[in-house]
Amino acid sequence: MKAILVKQPGGPEQLIPGEYPAPKPAANKLLVKVHATALNRADTLQREGKYPPPEGASPLLGLEIAGEVTEVGADVTKYKVGDKVFGLLPGGGYAECAVIDEGMAIPVPANLSMEEAAAIPEVFLTAYQALVWLGRLQPGERVLIHAGASGVGTAAIQLARQIGAGVLVTASAGKLQTCLDLGAAKAIDYKQQSFKEEVLKYTNGEGVDVIIDFIAGPYFADNIDCLRTDGRMVILASLGGGKVAQFDLRQVLAKRLHIMGSTLRSRSKEYQIALTNDLCHFALDKFRSGALKPVIDSVYNWEDVAEAHRYMEQNRNTGKIVLRVS
Ligand SMILES: NC(=O)c1ccc[n+]([C@@H]2O[C@H](COP(=O)([O-])OP(=O)(O)OC[C@H]3O[C@@H](n4cnc5c(N)ncnc54)[C@H](OP(=O)(O)O)[C@@H]3O)[C@@H](O)[C@H]2O)c1
Repeated sequence: MKAILVKQPGGPEQLIPGEYPAPKPAANKLLVKVHATALNRADTLQREGKYPPPEGASPLLGLEIAGEVTEVGADVTKYKVGDKVFGLLPGGGYAECAVIDEGMAIPVPANLSMEEAAAIPEVFLTAYQALVWLGRLQPGERVLIHAGASGVGTAAIQLARQIGAGVLVTASAGKLQTCLDLGAAKAIDYKQQSFKEEVLKYTNGEGVDVIIDFIAGPYFADNIDCLRTDGRMVILASLGGGKVAQFDLRQVLAKRLHIMGSTLRSRSKEYQIALTNDLCHFALDKFRSGALKPVIDSVYNWEDVAEAHRYMEQNRNTGKIVLRVS
């Protein structure tokens, strides 16, 4: 089959279309003809050789797909050949064919295109896990979502609004309106303003109940200042760096804070299947009705994948970058 290969670890120019052996579906897996896949930051790290795929996963890049089932394993009960499915993979999405565990596959809602379906799995599963399973966000609470216009951020804004929480975001100037259009009540241009001052001003000094953070080191102290008593912070990435120089931990005690970190890809298959089921229960009808929607920045032909990686690494996207495969 055709696939995107990494010639050697390095920059986007190392991504080249080539040939790779087509996978075979094991007993509980589906073989899918991939119509669309989507980019994730993990792909750029894996391309550089800094994020090896989990054991047993395809070495090809690509954490999510949408496509049509072409073969089913002997024990598969939920799907048949011809069904349209989308879902999260441990790897192997940048290819004409991919295998997916039947427990991770989700039926494509009739109102969504393959490109739209491929833009859902990674960011909505990550955002749902962070807000609901880890952050335990409740109706009426407030959540601060950093990188609000990122793929995960745009999913998190919508999910938080569906939960009934108030949403504050940070993003760069040109991306603020999209966050407001998705339901954020307050959007902070973090390059021009102190997010801490803006959050405390907006909340009359109370702060927020939950923070979803991707920046880590440089935001840590201000994040702690923004959390209310019993607040929860979920750290999903360290885009700004991993180190905190000086920090007084007494606020963590005094405010009874919960500080968590997570990476979805490192979770067990059982965990990922349970999360997929829970997200489907919460969100599938909302995708069908249009109450939730994948936010797509751009769709590239998959042979232009190097250009798509460059675009993401320049932080130019608002929402997802999708690759059209066939
Ligand atoms: N832990 C997990 O399970 C998990 C799962 C999925 C993704 N992630 C991680 O979550 C992050 C977001 O993923 P994504 O796919 O949604 O990314 P994305 O769509 O590429 O968006 C990332 C955005 O973050 C902002 N940003 C980048 N560097 C920054 C910095 N130093 N300070 C402040 N803002 C910065 C930029 O937006 P602005 O223009 O607004 O600055 C950038 O466009 C990535 O780091 C990814 O690896 C983690």
